[in-house]
Amino acid sequence: MNLTLKIWRQKSPKDKGQIVEYKVNDISEHMSFLEMLDVLNEDLVAKGEEPVAFDHDCREGICGMCSLHINGEAHGPDRLITTCQLHMRTFKDGDTIFIEPFRSKAFPIIKDLVVDRSALDRIQQAGGFISVNTSGNTQDANAIPIAKAAADESMDAATCIGCGACVASCKNASAMLFMSAKVSQYALLPQGRVEAADRVTNMIKQMDKEGFGNCTNTGACEVECPKGISLNNIARLNREYLKASI
Ligand code: SF4
Ligand code: FES
Repeated sequence: MNLTLKIWRQKSPKDKGQIVEYKVNDISEHMSFLEMLDVLNEDLVAKGEEPVAFDHDCREGICGMCSLHINGEAHGPDRLITTCQLHMRTFKDGDTIFIEPFRSKAFPIIKDLVVDRSALDRIQQAGGFISVNTSGNTQDANAIPIAKAAADESMDAATCIGCGACVASCKNASAMLFMSAKVSQYALLPQGRVEAADRVTNMIKQMDKEGFGNCTNTGACEVECPKGISLNNIARLNREYLKASI
């Protein structure tokens, strides 16, 4: 495949930035999207030009590092996959592909396609954990019976990889789907109930402080989420917050 790429280039956080056009040739349909960008970068380096900066780590859909808006959609046109799991067979020879960073006030651009998503880490640090006594007298977690349905729902919520696609897809740049997954994974288990009220209160406080918008039930986040995190979690988050408030 021969493709035209229109890529957001921005030298630094203060730089204005612009879309720059590149051509890539002989791209195999079996390549991943990131491998296609590797081909472009090798070409740019060979020509003495600055390669395009983009985030990635595991390239297996696990770490949540890859974060590209491809043709206007977070993680590209396919569903339930991350950018690193997107393959070039999704595109056709001669296509023009627009590649931009995830955009949100809370995700400032560092360089080119790399954004700073540490705001999500700070929300997690505000309450996304349980406090466990590790003195050696800790009760075995398996000693507490948990209904299968609750364990399954908690596990589904725990599959959130913190990629931020929900924020980038939301017209309000809301982090509610991410937050609701983190709150739900604990709210559904007895171990998470002990600190439930503090958790939800502190995480919401931090979310507001980071400049994320609120949820208006548009549902774009659920559509673009690579892990299929359900909007039901946002309903649970709202119930948890209401309970904690009264
Ligand atoms: S809820 Fe989905 S889109 Fe949002 S951070 Fe988690 S995995 Fe990514
Ligand atoms: S690089 Fe780890 S999820 Fe894509």
